[in-house]
Order: sequence, then structure tokens, then C-alpha cells
Amino acid sequence: MMPTVLVPLMSELLRYEKLAAELEGMVADGALRHGDRLPSVRRLSQERRLSVSTVVQALRQLESRGLVEARPQSGYFVRRPGPARGEPLPRSTPDTAVPVDVTQRLVRVLQAGCKPLVAPLAAALPAPQLLPVAALQRLYASVARRHPKLLEGGSHVNMNEPALVRQLVRRSLAWGGPLASDEIVITNSCTEALGLCLRAVTKPGDTVAVESPGYYLMLQLLETLGLRALEIPTDPRHGLSVEAFELASRHGGIAACLLVPNASNPLGSVMPDDRKRQLAALTAARGIALIEDDIYGDLHFGPQRPWPIKAFDTTGNVMLCSSFSKSLSPSLRIGFVAAGRYRSAVALQKTITSGGTNPITQNVLAEYLESTAFERHLRRLRRAYEQQVEAMRAAVGRHFPSATRMSQPQGGYVLWVELPDDLDATRLYECAIGENLAYVPGELFSASGMYRNCLRLNCGNPHTPEMEDAVRRLGRVIRGG
Ligand SMILES: Cc1ncc(COP(=O)(O)O)c(C=O)c1O
Repeated sequence: MMPTVLVPLMSELLRYEKLAAELEGMVADGALRHGDRLPSVRRLSQERRLSVSTVVQALRQLESRGLVEARPQSGYFVRRPGPARGEPLPRSTPDTAVPVDVTQRLVRVLQAGCKPLVAPLAAALPAPQLLPVAALQRLYASVARRHPKLLEGGSHVNMNEPALVRQLVRRSLAWGGPLASDEIVITNSCTEALGLCLRAVTKPGDTVAVESPGYYLMLQLLETLGLRALEIPTDPRHGLSVEAFELASRHGGIAACLLVPNASNPLGSVMPDDRKRQLAALTAARGIALIEDDIYGDLHFGPQRPWPIKAFDTTGNVMLCSSFSKSLSPSLRIGFVAAGRYRSAVALQKTITSGGTNPITQNVLAEYLESTAFERHLRRLRRAYEQQVEAMRAAVGRHFPSATRMSQPQGGYVLWVELPDDLDATRLYECAIGENLAYVPGELFSASGMYRNCLRLNCGNPHTPEMEDAVRRLGRVIRGG
């Protein structure tokens, strides 16, 4: 039996969204100005002939987008917009590869950021209420009951559940696939997939090209595998600079290129298709294995799902890694790699490092993906993340120093903030955490310690008044710095 996922009725969804759009239009036209009080819930409900709960839902949506604020006993008011802010500027990076040493500092930051009273602005984790947890719980019980044999086997040889492989292949049709079922290795996470790929194509001392700024966990993987990082400049809109990569790889010496081409972490950039095509061709021609992390591919804000580089791969040189940690639940611990011509080497690494992946979870996921619930859930999730990111941008605009720049993410749910040059986000972190405010300091996104005036904020949670207050207090800490 397929899961039933709770969604508002379509008619209800349209009504509250329509009202929210109408009110937003009035703000945009200047009919409602900042500081103005919105009509009361009761009046809106009577005048528009809508239920009170529909009106409240519309107002909450505007609140979560940072457009209005609720004042106790007074109603909803139009919020002052943040001033427009520029995007971070691309920077040049060191010419040589360096060993990586971020893990100790990173673990400390992430652990401190997860404590109960700390505002959840550090680790890139979604709010649990955005995830279809109840539907997954029901599926776990039902799959375990219907397939008791799944608990009896377990294999280091046949590690993939065919039902999940089928779903992954089917989904890949939406972005220029299909993946070949025999190139897929199901893993315990995207992190595991990335690690397996690196182990398959590098040896200690090798150099790996990474985005700069780039996802810290990738740097940690390089660190633990004894690899050196060559930082490649990355544009806040268009991602990794293929020109810079071409120059850097002219004389050989790069074993692999590791990147997040769709909604990169931390910039939220998406590489245009022509850059993806060029990078696929260049790496293949120069014998450099390409490992892409597409974990945010389904969480794009634009109308079309951006294609992964894999879609432009004609030689089997691209290893596509992903997981369902961002779109379904980080606790599922399930991901995959479509490893192209490296499939056997990656599968061998999987066998010797962790063996198979939990077969019950694989089947739960397969059934969820097969239902229409996943697409409906993704549509809502994309909209929620986009609104949350926009609300966070507006709040940073209101509360951070005026020379602050920030990214304009095209997907995902992290925001990259560049403070004025004289501010040191690593030093300020100590003051912030002392006030139960967390973020990830920018230097942890660089092997060579760049970006000390930058930081990354998690936008995985709805923009509640508490969140607004946390950003306001963080702004105060930073202004005081
Ligand atoms: C780009 C990127 N890749 C991978 C991960 C981790 O994924 P998983 O939980 O599947 O290991 C994250 C989580 O923040 C991420 O941002």
C-alpha cells in the first residue's frame, strides 16, 4: 500500500496562496507601506468570504517570508524591507594545492551549533516539520511486515535493492539521464558516496580540485584521505570557473575534481549547461576523474530542474553522488553513486568499507519514490526553502552592517554572507556562540584559510519571530565586532 501524505486540499492551498499574493501585491504597489497595519483576520475573513484558518495561513505565509510581522494583541504589520545588497565578489585563489586541516575546528563549531538553546543557523539541516516523517514511519512498519526476508539476508555481494535502483533510473529521466542500472552503487549517504569515489580514484598525496568557497565536508574527506586541495575560484552565480580549472590543469597533477554544480554549498550557485558540458569534456580529455555532488539538484528554485554534469558525460568519467538527506530526511542515511566507468572500483570500496546498505530503508525509499507523494512533497519543499532563504536575506539586510554582501541562492537552503573586510567571522564566532547564536565561519570553506570575513547561515527553518530575533542579535554581535 502506498503512503498517504497529508497535504492541504488543492482548493484550500489556492485560496490562502491567492490571498497572500494579493496582499503581497498591495505591498509591492505601495498600497500598503511599511509600518501599515494589515486588515484584521476577522475583517479579511468576512470581506473575502474565507475561513479564519485560511486567512491565518495566508498571513503566516507572508510572515515566514519576512514581509509582515505579528505584533502581540495588535495584528499584522508590513515590515520594513532590507536594503538591496550586492552579491559576494569572486576571489582569486592560491596557485598551488595545500594539505587540509579543518576537521578539529569544524567538529567544534557543528557540535556547539546543535545544542538545544542555540539558534539553528549553523549545520545545514531542515526543520523536521518540513519532512514527511510520518509517511516514512508508516512505510518502515509496512515494508518490514510485508518483506520479513529483508531482515534475514544482508549481502556484501548483492548490495543494491533492485526496486530502488529502478526508481533512481526512472527519476534520472527527468534530467537527461537515464543512468545505467549497473553503474549504481547504493550507499549509506552522500558523504559515503563521495568518500568511496575519492578512494577509488586517488591515493594519498594526490591533488583534488575543489570549489572555493567549497563544502567543508569535502575538505574533511580530503584531509582524512591525505589528499591535497587545489582551490578553484567559484562564481556566486555560475559556480566553478572552468577557465581557471583549465589553466590549473594544463600541466597535469590533478587526480580528481570534486564539486557541487547545482545549488552549491555554500554559494547556492548553479553552473550553466555550457560550463557543465565544457567541464565534462575537459576532465575526460585530461584524465581527471570528475565527482559531482547533486544533493541539492531537486531543490532548485527555478522552473526547471538543473541537469547534473553527468547528463553531459560521453565517456563514463563522471561519478554522480547524491542522497535523500536534504529532500526527505537526514536520518534515512541513504544515498547513491552512479559511477560510470569507475563502477567496479567504487563497488569494491563499498564492500570493504561498509558492506551493503540497509535493505529495509532501500525498499522504504523505493516505495516512497514510486508514489506521487514525493513530487508533491518536493514542490512544497522547494517553495518553503525559497521563501525561507528570501526571508533570511531580508533579515540579514535589515540587521547586518550596511556593507554586507550576500549570495542569491538558486536552490538549497544555505546563505553565504560576506561581511566588510575588517570583520573577522572566526573571531566573532566566539562572541556569537556565547549568546547562543551559531553559524559556520567562512574560513572552514577553504583549505587555505580564505574567507575570514564570511560566514554561512542555515535557512532550513521557517522564518519565525524567534528566527528574526536571532538574526537581529547576530547582527548586533557583528556590528559590535
Ligand atoms: C553539498 C552536500 N553534500 C553532502 C551533504 C551530506 O549529505 P549526507 O547526509 O547524505 O551525507 C551535505 C549536507 O550538508 C551537503 O550540503
